[in-house]
Amino acid sequence: MEETRILQADDAGIAGAARLLRQGGLVAFPTETVYGLGGDARDDRAVARIFDAKGRPRFNPLIAHLPDLAKAEELALFDDRARTLAAEFWPGPLTLVLPLREGTGLSALVTAGLPTVALRVPAHPVARALLRAFGGPLAAPSANPSGRVSPTRAAHVMAGLSGRIEAVVDGGPCAVGVESTILGFDPDGGPRLLRPGGVALEALEAALGRPLAIGPAGPETETETGPRPNAPGQLASHYAPAAPVRLEARAAGTGEILVGFGPVKGDLTLSATGDLVEAAAQLFHILREADHLAGPQGAIAFAPIPEAGLGRAINDRLRRAAAPRP
Ligand code: TXA
Ligand code: MG
Repeated sequence: MEETRILQADDAGIAGAARLLRQGGLVAFPTETVYGLGGDARDDRAVARIFDAKGRPRFNPLIAHLPDLAKAEELALFDDRARTLAAEFWPGPLTLVLPLREGTGLSALVTAGLPTVALRVPAHPVARALLRAFGGPLAAPSANPSGRVSPTRAAHVMAGLSGRIEAVVDGGPCAVGVESTILGFDPDGGPRLLRPGGVALEALEAALGRPLAIGPAGPETETETGPRPNAPGQLASHYAPAAPVRLEARAAGTGEILVGFGPVKGDLTLSATGDLVEAAAQLFHILREADHLAGPQGAIAFAPIPEAGLGRAINDRLRRAAAPRP
């Protein structure tokens, strides 16, 4: 394939990106959370190419991105609670897992054959403009090789996927910096947090007026391709830089790059003032910077982050970055 093009986030760039997508091409684009690797969610070949470009296991389903709630309702069945959440948090960093409608034309690869589909209406103006120009659902996982650090800048996308995708639309750094919160419903109708992310748990519980169950709904099951986590994609090791990662550090050990937060001063810092919103926005860029500074022999240590608000999403990503590698 030819070189990956970098498109400007202007009318011409967005029109060019939409054209590539209509031809079955893969285009990375900015969302408020991270850059997504977009492909036509109705096109089996385009969706298969997303998995190949990322080296992503096929049992791990993708999020379908839509321009608005009306388009989302064409793909899935919304009840009153799902509509309340959509009204409150869309457009924005919330993904809803809902029963898939029949006859939507969505590629079965998007849902990995599940009876549910993950839907999201992103807030980023460039993502919204692209979805309108393209005119259909875009399957879009984070635009990074599977298991590696998610991209929050066009340069991060190029570092991981250059030569494997048609283009990236450069919309600058992502404001939220961690992926969307994923919320699903148990068979009894109870809401369940499947992945902490850009919408804080506390805000979801306030909107629902009840506590959320947290984490995968049941035991892991085995498939031909290996263990299949109940909440697909929630594999232990993820977001992995090359260097090993240590958490809850208050000082740097030998050969370690310390990433500070609040009172813990580091070689780098997620937020000197202890601001979790700033820390989330910086997280993946700092992880890359720290990896670069650590070099082939070094390691990365992170200061403690409070487990509240966006801190839950940050700690989730850091625990996966620190998890034993397969
Ligand atoms: O912020 C985001 O959500 C970004 C941007 C690009 O929108 N996208 C993103 O996609 O993080 P990805 O593929 O990296 O993560 C999607 C997650 C995976 O963990 C996948 O297992 C889960 O969503 N997922 C997708 N469909 C699902 C379903 N039907 N049931 C449960 N989990 C699902
Ligand atoms: Mg991802």
